[in-house]
Amino acid sequence: MLEDLSHSILDIAENAVNAEATKIVIEIAEGLDENKITMIVSDNGKGMDEDLLSKISDPFVTSRKTRRVGLGIPFLRQAAEGCDGFFEIRSSPGKGTSVTASFRTDHIDCPPMGDLAATLITLLLGWPDKRWIFRYKINGRQFELDSDEIVRVLGDKESLRSCEVATWLKGWIDENLSILRLGGSDQYAQDKKS
Ligand SMILES: Nc1ncnc2c1ncn2[C@@H]1O[C@H](COP(=O)(O)OP(=O)(O)OP(=O)(O)O)[C@@H](O)[C@H]1O
Ligand SMILES: [Mg+2]
Repeated sequence: MLEDLSHSILDIAENAVNAEATKIVIEIAEGLDENKITMIVSDNGKGMDEDLLSKISDPFVTSRKTRRVGLGIPFLRQAAEGCDGFFEIRSSPGKGTSVTASFRTDHIDCPPMGDLAATLITLLLGWPDKRWIFRYKINGRQFELDSDEIVRVLGDKESLRSCEVATWLKGWIDENLSILRLGGSDQYAQDKKS
């Protein structure tokens, strides 16, 4: 069972980390008029061959050593398809992977978004050496966060782990997402759009 979409994003992004990706892009696009939300997590990790890719939705397929079932992908697929959505994984060995899932937000079984800012902070603080790019688009407007830009401002990657930075980042992401949802005229969101 998928509790919320943020939790699933965390899981799919962790897959990318485990695949030794150095750059991970998380994109969410919401069409308020069409009641649809799409998320795409792409990475430049080691990728999967066709054999693994064809079995990937089976919960008994996993390369992890601690237990024999992998649930992240089957749960996401089931959740997307269970609310008239769409699910796809593309991968090339040595190049990377991209996981796309879309959901009908007016479907009764559509999971809630959950705490997206907390998920992003967990990823940024957990793996400050990776480059994280996060984009949230609503009806053509967008908010973008690039961890490289944040590290440039902070001066070093380790500062990403400080409590003050985490608290500030969480507030900043939450605020920008609310502005985006309200359709307001946030300067940052506008800059990124132009
Ligand atoms: N981005 C990726 N790059 C390369 N391989 C991947 C990627 N995502 C998934 N895989 C492969 O697919 C398998 C299944 O992934 P899935 O998330 O369903 O389960 P898991 O990560 O093994 O376990 P769990 O998510 O339950 O902790 C992984 O073990 C890994 O071999
Ligand atoms: Mg996983």
